Amino acid sequence: MSTRRTQVAIIGAGPAGLMLSHLLHLHGIESVVLEVRDRAYVEHRVRAGVLEQGTVDLLQDSGIGERLLREGQPHEAINLQFQGERHRLAMTELTGRRITVYGQQEVVKDLIAQRLADDGLIVFEADGLTVDGVDGDDPVVRYRVDGVQHELHADFVAGCDGSYGVSKDAVPDGVLTTYERTYPFAWLGILAQAAPAVHELIYARHENGFALYSLRSPQVSRLYLQVAPDEDLAQWPDERVWAELHTRLELDGDPVRVTEGPVLEKGITPMRSLVVEPMQHRRLFLAGDAVHIVPPTGAKGMNLAIADARLLGRAFDAWYARSDRELLDAYTATALRRVWRAQHFSWWMTSMLHRFDGHDPYEEQLALSQLRYATTSQAYARSLAENYVGLLDV
Ligand code: FAD
Ligand code: DHB
Repeated sequence: MSTRRTQVAIIGAGPAGLMLSHLLHLHGIESVVLEVRDRAYVEHRVRAGVLEQGTVDLLQDSGIGERLLREGQPHEAINLQFQGERHRLAMTELTGRRITVYGQQEVVKDLIAQRLADDGLIVFEADGLTVDGVDGDDPVVRYRVDGVQHELHADFVAGCDGSYGVSKDAVPDGVLTTYERTYPFAWLGILAQAAPAVHELIYARHENGFALYSLRSPQVSRLYLQVAPDEDLAQWPDERVWAELHTRLELDGDPVRVTEGPVLEKGITPMRSLVVEPMQHRRLFLAGDAVHIVPPTGAKGMNLAIADARLLGRAFDAWYARSDRELLDAYTATALRRVWRAQHFSWWMTSMLHRFDGHDPYEEQLALSQLRYATTSQAYARSLAENYVGLLDV
């Protein structure tokens, strides 16, 4: 068995854990990142793609925005499509801010490269991980690598291990409260080697269900379809996916035709809203999907994970630099303000744009009325846009 010590033990090499480790390093605080998967897996897991301006600014200000600046695609508008019409929502005109399309796995690659260049330690394939002693002064994380047992002692543990993580199991029973909502559908997403037919995202409400036209580069498209929650991927050969995308995204008399190409990746994402609070317990701090999940319609998941890391980075800095625990103590309350705003926005976008089989015609008319309002009222459009590009102070 091997034993080592660090200042902050970070569980999970996703956006939250890697960003936190990077920010701690910039403050001269040592951390070790423990990740159950191998490096290639985390670097190639296709997920989100929309970065808020605040996320981009943080990546750039902290010195990892070089490739993002070169390869990321700034977007100044999105489109809302319903009842056979497409409406452009000019986000930058409405808010002065914009989003950038850059794949989550690219952010993860950039963060891993930087941590390793800075001699940071990321332990991949850390199996059977458990967290103990967060109530006392010497929390310990135990895990195995290649069958060898390891113990990592730390001042603090940061649980950044995503929706299936184990770190919150270290909190005693009765402390955490969970708020949750499930949706009666999932998203089927594809990444395709196909030049996108659009420059700006299209969020489409269609009688067959929601569809989203997004992109990754001038050669690669990213598209999503609303499907049943228990959908079997085998029932969706590529031809069926393309046929449904044509049906839901193309409009009569409009030149946009979905461009087809080889499918590079295909997967199903369940839709869930979840908040677990408090986001901290004694020496354990939880961040990202480990404590809050949003349906992807508002493109908020990764941005929230990175916003948590930013708060924790500042709070640990205040503690180590000045023995000031105010920011650490306030972490849950501060983080939850942004989290609940994003929860509402994601739920709202999801409700407005999807087909709910259980809904009565009255609810359907309400959803259409909100879409119509968002595309005709400057005030409502600005509200949507400022949430989408990311609120500065929540
Ligand atoms: P994660 O990225 O999940 O990272 C957690 C890390 O912890 C993982 O690397 C995991 O392997 C590791 N881990 C888990 N358990 C352990 C353990 N026991 N020991 C050690 N390590 C562990 N958001 C959007 O905005 N748009 C999208 O289109 C979108 N698509 C998604 C598709 C899928 C399939 C999923 C799962 C999520 C998607 N999201 C999307 C959400 C977004 O990707 C997440 O919000 C984001 O990844 C959260 O980052 P995180 O660092 O908190 O967690
Ligand atoms: C993408 C994902 C989203 O959830 C979203 O709302 C917009 C774009 C994407 O993967 O490109």
